[in-house]
Amino acid sequence: MITPEKALKFIKQKSALNLTQLEKEANLPKKTLHKALQGILSLNEKHCTLLEPILREYGYADELFSKAKIISIVNHKGGVGKTTTTINLGKALTLSGYSVLLIDFDSQGNTSQCFGHYTPDLQIIDAILDNIDLPIVEIGENFYLSPSNIKMAYRETDLVNSIGNEKRLRNKLNQISEQFDFILIDCPPALNIFTTNALVASDMCIVPLQPEAYAFYGIENLFNRIYEIRQHANNTLIVKGILFTMVSNTLVHRQMIDFVKEKYKHTASVFNVFIERATIIQQSQVAQKDLFSYAPKSTPALQYIELAKEFFIL
Ligand SMILES: Nc1ncnc2c1ncn2[C@@H]1O[C@H](COP(=O)(O)OP(=O)(O)OP(=O)(O)O)[C@@H](O)[C@H]1O
Ligand SMILES: [Mg+2]
Repeated sequence: MITPEKALKFIKQKSALNLTQLEKEANLPKKTLHKALQGILSLNEKHCTLLEPILREYGYADELFSKAKIISIVNHKGGVGKTTTTINLGKALTLSGYSVLLIDFDSQGNTSQCFGHYTPDLQIIDAILDNIDLPIVEIGENFYLSPSNIKMAYRETDLVNSIGNEKRLRNKLNQISEQFDFILIDCPPALNIFTTNALVASDMCIVPLQPEAYAFYGIENLFNRIYEIRQHANNTLIVKGILFTMVSNTLVHRQMIDFVKEKYKHTASVFNVFIERATIIQQSQVAQKDLFSYAPKSTPALQYIELAKEFFIL
């Protein structure tokens, strides 16, 4: 039986569905779905029974929401906006009603620091090496974090030498993936064992990219690594899209964006939305807040909301 939560999640994801038409087809009173989506009416069992066969015709399946979608935010180039994207895409998804777990898989610990977790007693590296539960802390409504700090780097060799080293994170996330809708993994700026673990664990990845020459040069190596992982360790991994970050309204940025779109038109999608360069992002991080708590109406906040929407279309 479809639950009210699953019905609404499915309807939200299929933005092309016409609500009035759906209500008609399911014999629901007018505006039922409009009100349910606005949170002013709760769908009851009768609503769900009427809706279920119609939603199945539109592609609803029980397994759609049984496990979290696992997404790596990856680029071995440093400072391209991986952490910023992990935090703010994650928050944007929670605002659409999804439950989201952020995995801080970088020993710099920037995602954890953003939420005030500097020296977590237990962290992901302990969980994947010592067979203990993944530490999960609540950082907001439907918003959770598995923290890390520099300790992760000290144990990198232990991970390299462990049995099944590349699958350790995947095995750990499998144990908890039914508890969340999305798990976002903030990757380190390196093509190391941590990034490999993240990609082996993921259904898909998003590649933040600054439209600048040095940022672009490394992307071929990243795509080669993704192909290798697909061939040998995770054949369902997809590149969901390249996300341009820190974009300014300059000719050189526009030219670079066009160049990347053309060059990778057969390899990877490029999100239509891009994240502009804005100091409000740095300010929000100094204030230890996600953008939506700090400046919900700012342009980059709206761009991250757009990204969360486009995510389901692309
Ligand atoms: N759109 C933006 N506009 C302005 N500054 C930004 C933007 N996105 C990120 N920044 C800033 O750029 C710096 C790098 O961003 P971020 O930490 O997200 O990159 P990263 O790829 O995670 O870096 P690393 O590779 O070191 O992990 C940070 O100081 C951040 O505040
Ligand atoms: Mg980072």
